[in-house]
Amino acid sequence: RPRVLSGIQPTADSFHLGNYLGAVRQYVALQETHEAFYFIADLHALTVTPKPEELRRRTRVAAAQLFAAGLDPERSAVFAQSHVREHSELAWILICQTGMGEAGRMTQFKDKSARYGESAASVGLFTYPILQAADILIYQADQVPVGVDQKQHLELSRDLAQRFNNRYGQTFKVPNPYILKEVEKIGDLQDPTAKMSKSSSSPQGIIDVLEEPGALRKKIMRAVTDTGSEVVADEENKPGVTNLLRIHSALSGVPIPELEARFAGQGYGAFKKEVAEAVTETFAPIRERTEKLLADEAELDRLLAAGADRARRVARQTMARVRDRIGLLHGG
Ligand code: TYM
Repeated sequence: RPRVLSGIQPTADSFHLGNYLGAVRQYVALQETHEAFYFIADLHALTVTPKPEELRRRTRVAAAQLFAAGLDPERSAVFAQSHVREHSELAWILICQTGMGEAGRMTQFKDKSARYGESAASVGLFTYPILQAADILIYQADQVPVGVDQKQHLELSRDLAQRFNNRYGQTFKVPNPYILKEVEKIGDLQDPTAKMSKSSSSPQGIIDVLEEPGALRKKIMRAVTDTGSEVVADEENKPGVTNLLRIHSALSGVPIPELEARFAGQGYGAFKKEVAEAVTETFAPIRERTEKLLADEAELDRLLAAGADRARRVARQTMARVRDRIGLLHGG
């Protein structure tokens, strides 16, 4: 079976609708057809120096949500990135294969370092995409399900794989991004041309998977819509309505043209109400299962340990080969 791999950061107390539609749903679908590896990117989260207690809590909440959303521990290795030490080891080796200019061109780094101020941004933020490349290449992943914001990082991973293979002989599979056009960038509810994002959206613009249904409904009813009253997809002139149509369609499975026809002449209110229903219906059971899983931390930790064991077996094989290729002595 081909391999699928992806990671998600534990940088908030809940995943949001963008994470869910852009990534997590694809993780669940792909575990049916692929050998699957999914991890909580706790090392990546360190780039913004979270409080230790907060990081611990968020890592468990993230893991619980992944299982609650449908990842099956039998089919998918679900683990904490930091539990498989080989990620960090390969990251260093790849850091030495990456040009300063190449890393400096990463737009997420540029955005984030501009936000924090250049001197406050850590070196970890700079090398972040290279650790991400290590995450991917160490599993010889074929497909990497992500939102479009990760596309440039995936390109760097591909470049690094090819460069390493050219310099030292065939070692890594060149991974493919798996990006679904319809959900590649879910917009902020208050600023729909911007992506929904835990770091930049206002609380009103972002919907959490673990959000109370009442609060969730209110946010959708108050989502920015556009001038006019027609429920039609029009990226240019109606980004707010288009975003909501994409969300509805992704959750209900009803194609956008059918939704447009169904809501013709009804105005935005009736439409938003249905969007809110679709979201609450999807998230309510995930929320419930997440709470159950979090009630038994020992079991959750056990599931993560088992996932890490499976992942480590693959990661070690790749690392043995990498060490050999690059000229490090055996026996360490
Ligand atoms: P992160 O934690 O920011 O986001 C997790 C996943 O959610 C997707 N996503 C979105 N998709 C659609 N619309 C949105 N508004 C939206 N917001 C987020 C992201 O594209 C991502 O797929 N660097 C990664 C984590 C990572 C990783 C990896 C991913 C670390 N190592 C290896 C893949 C492979 C990140 O910060 O994702």
